[in-house]
Amino acid sequence: MGAFQTLAEKLSCPVCSGKVQDGKDALRCQGCQTTFPVWGDFPWIFANSGEWKADWTQRFRFYLQQLHEDIQNLKMELKLLDLLPKTKERLQHLVQAKTEQHRELEKLFEPLLLGGGPSYEQQLAAQTPLPESQQLMGYYGNILRDWGWGEEENQICEDMLAGMLGPHPLGTMLVLGSGPSRLAYDIHRRLGGRETIALDINPFYLLVAERMLAGRNLNLYDFPMAPIDAKAFASRVKCRAPETIKQGFTFLMADAMNPCFQDASIDTLLTPWIIDIVPQDFRSFAKKLNRILKPGARWLNFGSTVFHHRLQHLCYSRDEIPDILAESGFEVLQVRENVIPYLRSPSSCQQRSEKVFSFLARKVQEIDPGPAFTPLPNWLTDTEMPVPIQADLQQQMIVNLTLTQVLAQVDGQRNLRQIAEVMAPTFELPPNDVLPMLKRMFSRFVEGRGRSMNF
Ligand SMILES: C[S@@+](CC[C@H](N)C(=O)[O-])C[C@H]1O[C@@H](n2cnc3c(N)ncnc32)[C@H](O)[C@@H]1O
Repeated sequence: MGAFQTLAEKLSCPVCSGKVQDGKDALRCQGCQTTFPVWGDFPWIFANSGEWKADWTQRFRFYLQQLHEDIQNLKMELKLLDLLPKTKERLQHLVQAKTEQHRELEKLFEPLLLGGGPSYEQQLAAQTPLPESQQLMGYYGNILRDWGWGEEENQICEDMLAGMLGPHPLGTMLVLGSGPSRLAYDIHRRLGGRETIALDINPFYLLVAERMLAGRNLNLYDFPMAPIDAKAFASRVKCRAPETIKQGFTFLMADAMNPCFQDASIDTLLTPWIIDIVPQDFRSFAKKLNRILKPGARWLNFGSTVFHHRLQHLCYSRDEIPDILAESGFEVLQVRENVIPYLRSPSSCQQRSEKVFSFLARKVQEIDPGPAFTPLPNWLTDTEMPVPIQADLQQQMIVNLTLTQVLAQVDGQRNLRQIAEVMAPTFELPPNDVLPMLKRMFSRFVEGRGRSMNF
C-alpha cells in the first residue's frame, strides 16, 4: 500500500473503468493491469502516461532551449556599439533574469527531465501542441498571481466563493484544472477541507503548487507585456504559500474531460476557469461531471464563459448555462456575476478587470454521461493506425517543400534576384513576380515569425 491509498479508492481506470489500487511505486488498475506512474510526486492517470510524460518533458526542454536562445540573442545585442548606458543596463538585467529563470525552472523540472531529447530545431518543427489549452506556459501569470503578487486578487476570489459555498462541509473536493492551485488551497484552508484533489493536465503548475504547499520558495520572473519601467522588464517574484498544507491535499495529473473517478465519489466539485477552455461541448462535459458526483453533491463554477469552439452553437452564452445544468441533472442554487481584478501584475501598465460568472448547483438526478470524449481522431490516439491521406496534410507538405526549396538556395553568395531566377520555373512566374513572394518568405524570419514561441 502506498501514499495514494485514499485517492486510489475513488479512481476509475481510464482504459477499462476498473478499480485502481495503490502500489509501492505506482497505482495499478485491478482490471486491465494498466499502471499509473508517480512522477514529480503525483500520479499520472492516463491510458498512456509514458507518452504524456514524453510530451511534457519535450515541452519543458523546448522552453529551456528557448530561454537559452533568448539569452544568447541578448548577449549579441549587448555587443552593439552605440547602446545608451541605460539600454545596456536594461539588457544586462534581462540576461541576468533569464539566466536565473533558466536555473530555477531547470531545478523545478528536474523530476521530468531525465535522459536526452530532440534538438531545438526538431522541437521547432513539431511546433504547436494540441489542444491549445495544453501549452506549457499558457497560464504562467496565474502562478505569479497565486503565489507571488500579493493577496488582493486571491482574497477577493476566496471570499466570493467561500461565501457561495457557506459553512457546509466540503467532504471530498475535486478541483478540475486547478493550475497553480491557489484557489483550491484557499478554499481547503478556509472551509476546513478533509480531502482535496487538485487535478490538472499540465505538470508544470502541479510541480509549482506542490512546492508551495510544502512551504518551499520559488523565485520566478515576471516579464510583463507592458512594463512600467526598465526594471519591470524582468521583475523577480518570490513565490511562497502563507502556510503549508501537509495532509488531505493531493495533486493528480489527469484529463478533466473524461474524469477518472468512480461513479458518485465526489462531494464538492470546483471548476475554476475551465469549462470554456476544454474542447468538449459543455453539454456533454456537464453530464460527465454529473456521473462522478454523489447525489446531492455541489458543483461550484467560477471564471469566464469564452467558449472557444469552431462551431458557433457550442459557444454558449451565460443565459444558456442554467438550461444546460438542468438537462444535466443539476438544480441551480445560485448564479452570480462579479467584476474582479484579473492577473494584475504590479510591474505592468495594463491592469485588467473581468466580469466573472459563478454558479453553485446541486446534483438532483442521475444522467447518462454518454461515450468517452475524444478530442483527437483515432489515428492520433491509436499509434498503430495508418495516418490517412488528407488534403490539409498534403497542403502542408507542399508549403514545407516550397520553403525548403527556397531556403536551399541560400549559399551566402546568391542575392534575392538570383534566387528568384532559380525559383521562377517552379512557381511558373517571371522572376520579377517571384521577388515579392521571396521577400514575404524571408521577412517572416527577419521579424522572428519563422520560429514558434509555443511549447
Ligand atoms: C485558465 S487556467 C485556470 C487555472 C486555475 N483554475 C486558475 O483559476 O488559476 C485552466 C487550467 O486548466 C488546465 N486544463 C486545460 N485542459 C485541461 C484538461 N483537459 N484536463 C485538466 N486540466 C486542464 C490548464 O492546464 C490550466 O491549468
